[in-house]
Amino acid sequence: MRSMSVAETTEAQANIGVVGLAVMGSNLARNLASREGNRVAVYNRSWEKTEALLEEHPEADFVAAKDYKEFAASLQRPRTALIMVKAGAATDAVITELTEVFEPGDIIVDGGNALFTDTIRREATVRETGINFVGAGISGGEEGALKGPSIMPGGSAEAWETLGPILKSIAAVADGEPCVTHIGTDGAGHFVKMVHNGIEYADMQLIAEAYDLIRRGTGKSTDEIADIFEEWNKGELESYLIEITAEVLRQKDAKTGQPLVDVIRDEAGAKGTGAWTVQTALDLGVPVSGIAEAVFARSLSSSRASRNAAANLPGPDEEFDVADPDAFIEDVRLALFASKIVAYSQGFDEIVAGAIQYDWDINLGEVARIWKAGCIIRAQFLGRITQAYLDDPKLGSLLTAPYFTDAIAKAQASWRRVVVAAARTGIPSPAFSSSLAYYDGLRAERLPAALIQGQRDFFGAHTYKRMDADGTFHTLWSGDRSEVHAEDLH
Ligand code: 6PG
Repeated sequence: MRSMSVAETTEAQANIGVVGLAVMGSNLARNLASREGNRVAVYNRSWEKTEALLEEHPEADFVAAKDYKEFAASLQRPRTALIMVKAGAATDAVITELTEVFEPGDIIVDGGNALFTDTIRREATVRETGINFVGAGISGGEEGALKGPSIMPGGSAEAWETLGPILKSIAAVADGEPCVTHIGTDGAGHFVKMVHNGIEYADMQLIAEAYDLIRRGTGKSTDEIADIFEEWNKGELESYLIEITAEVLRQKDAKTGQPLVDVIRDEAGAKGTGAWTVQTALDLGVPVSGIAEAVFARSLSSSRASRNAAANLPGPDEEFDVADPDAFIEDVRLALFASKIVAYSQGFDEIVAGAIQYDWDINLGEVARIWKAGCIIRAQFLGRITQAYLDDPKLGSLLTAPYFTDAIAKAQASWRRVVVAAARTGIPSPAFSSSLAYYDGLRAERLPAALIQGQRDFFGAHTYKRMDADGTFHTLWSGDRSEVHAEDLH
C-alpha cells in the first residue's frame, strides 16, 4: 500500500498521529499502523525523517504531514496525537504547536520519559484550552515499541475513552490482557513509569552484584555464569532482565575475542529516571534504599577520579574462597530473590505515597499486571504482586503478603550468608546489603530512633513522644532533667 501525503487526501482519515519519528516514535507508528482499525498520521520536524520512514516501510499505510496544520487536518475528531520527542524543552515546543492547531476535546499524549511534575504542569496548562493532555509512560525499549510495549497512561477519564482502545491495540499482552491501564489523572502515568525505572535500576544492580559475587567467589567463567542465569530463568527469578543477562555474559567481543563484559568499561551511565525516583521518594519520605543504592552504585562506578585515588586503600586480608560453589550459587540466587522482593516492595510503597500526595486512585494490582509483559522489568513474579493486592487490596508492605513473607523466610539464611561473605571479603554488594538492612529495620520491634530523638531534643529542643503517654515532651537536659510538656515550656 502506498502512503499518502495529506495534500493528496481529501478528508481527515487517521485515528492517531505520531509526532517525532526517531527510533521510538517510528517503531510506535509502525506498531500502530500494523493493527487492525488504525490509520496513522506521521509528522517530524525534518521532512527527511518522514520520507525515510515512508520509503523504508511501504507496508505501513501512513498519512504523512509536512506541517502541523496538515497533521491536524489529517486526524479524525477527537484528534489524538502521540508525541515522541526528547523529554524536556522539545516536548513543550511540540505541545505549543499542537495546541494551536487542535480544538477542545482533542488529545495530546506525551509518550516520552517526562518528569511527572512536568506532566502535572503541562496537563494543567493544556486543560485551559479544553484540549486533553495525557502523560503516558511507555516501557519496552525499541523492540517493545515495535512489537508491544507496556503503557502507563495518566490524564483524564474522557481522554482514556478514546485513547484506551488505541493503546490496547499496540500494547504487549499478558495472560490474554493488554498491558495498559488508565493509571490515574494528570501525572500518575509518568509517576508510575518513573518508579518502574527505579525498580529497573535496582533489579539490574542486584543482578550485577549476583554475577560479581559468583565470578569472584567461584572463579567461574562468563559462559558458565551465563548457564547459571539461564537456569535461574526457569524458576522464580524468570524475567527479561535475567534472560538478557545470560546473553550479555555470553557475548564475545568481535575485536579481541574476550567476553564483551570484560572489555566494556565498568562505568554505568544513567539518563536520570532512577535519580528522579529517589529524589521523589526523599520528598515523600519513603525509604527506597535498594533503589537508591542502585542509583548511587552507578554514580560510584563512574566516579573515575575518586576510584583511581582510592585504588590502593587497604581491603580485608581474607581471600574469597568458596568451599562449596553449588551451595554458594544457590545462596546468591536466594539472596537475589529476597533483595528483589524488597526493591519491588519499596517501589510500590512509593506509588502508594505518590497516590496519597497527588490524589491519584491507583490500582496497584493493575500496575503489576501491566508490567508482566512488554516492559523492561517484565517477570513472572509480577503475577504474585497482582495476586497479593487482589487478596488484600489494603495490603501495607508487599513483604507482609503471605507469598512474599514465605519466600523471604526461605531465603533469609542464604541472604545473610551472602551479605556476610561479601562484607568479610570486601566485595561491594550495596543493593544486597541495604535490602537486608531495610528488611531487618522494618521488622524490628524497637529501633535506635529513640536515641536520635533524644539527641535532637538535647541539641535543639526538637521534642519527642513517649511510649507511656500521649503528647509532646522536652527534657531540660542540663538542669534538673525533669520532663515537661512542650506546650508548657514558654
Ligand atoms: C524502558 C526503559 C527506558 C530506558 C531507560 C534507561 O522502560 O523502556 O526504562 O525508559 O531504557 O531510560 O535508563 P538509563 O539510561 O537511565 O539506564
